[in-house]
Amino acid sequence: PQKSGLKEASPFPIGGAIEIRQIAKDTVLKKIIQENFNSITATSDMKMYNILPQEGNYNWRQADSLVSFSTKDNLRLFGHTLVWHSGTPEWVAEKGSKDSLWLAHFLKEYIQTYVGKYKGQVAAWDVVNEGFETQGGDYRKSLWFEVLGKDYIANAFRYTHEADPEAELFYNDFNLERDTSKLNGVLSMVEELKQNGVPITGLGVQMHLRMDIPNALIRESVRKMAATGLKIHFSELDIIFNTHDDTRKGGVQLYKELTPEMLKQQAAKYKEVALIYREEVPESQQFGITFWDFTDRDTWINPFFGLNDWPTIFDENLKPKPAFYGFKEGL
Ligand code: XIL
Repeated sequence: PQKSGLKEASPFPIGGAIEIRQIAKDTVLKKIIQENFNSITATSDMKMYNILPQEGNYNWRQADSLVSFSTKDNLRLFGHTLVWHSGTPEWVAEKGSKDSLWLAHFLKEYIQTYVGKYKGQVAAWDVVNEGFETQGGDYRKSLWFEVLGKDYIANAFRYTHEADPEAELFYNDFNLERDTSKLNGVLSMVEELKQNGVPITGLGVQMHLRMDIPNALIRESVRKMAATGLKIHFSELDIIFNTHDDTRKGGVQLYKELTPEMLKQQAAKYKEVALIYREEVPESQQFGITFWDFTDRDTWINPFFGLNDWPTIFDENLKPKPAFYGFKEGL
């Protein structure tokens, strides 16, 4: 049995991604959060398509509940995410693609309204999520980039800072630990933003890992990220065995079942991730590690990629896996 929680064992914040409806209906899940985490991120409750599903019709219900849950339980609330190609509701895409002035104005108003409403209650924001292509060092050709150019990124950070000067502001992306040209592209952007006085304070590294991504490559990449001086957040950690092509189109099921040997290897990998974070990120830059779903029952990976995988630290029955203890050892 689990003796003490991850948060007691950790020198930096430990978080989990969750939706408010999961906490409300599941006492075991809630207990896992209370025992192990001191930070939470909403998996989707705080994305644009949930906050502003229709024009002029803000929906604060889930975000309000997350704020009160996190306040009551003394959890840091991480805001995910303000601008994301996949989080943009259809109506914004439709209107914005026809009217760049409107889109520029909308970006400002949305951020001011949303961030302003939760000023002082959201510790940090993923201001821009996945602004680079899946692979390589180019800006993603999203609606935002195509209509507004790369300045949408700098502007989003400026508006967020104006609305809540105390909040930490992150750029968040994936594959940075494995794709060196993508990492270099993001790091150049970070340098440019800093040179232009844009108020970016953190780099979010999603860390949707796969067992065969070499530890040495991950370590080297994290060292480069830390050299920016920004706060570093491992923002969406999970570790899969099987593969997929980074789209919804489907995964490659290499493993039929989970063996004791696989559990052991996964535990070692989780331990290594914690070690890499501790050893490569200076303490003053350690913003924490967040698990993206933390049970194999609830993991987004399986429905999203059409896989049967076991990426998290708690099993289908919400019992801690070897990965849980491995991670804890690395803290
Ligand atoms: C995912 C959620 O986990 C899913 O439930 C939802 O269907 C799609 O979004 N990178 C991110 C997250 O930044 O917002 C994504 O979350 C996972 C990949």
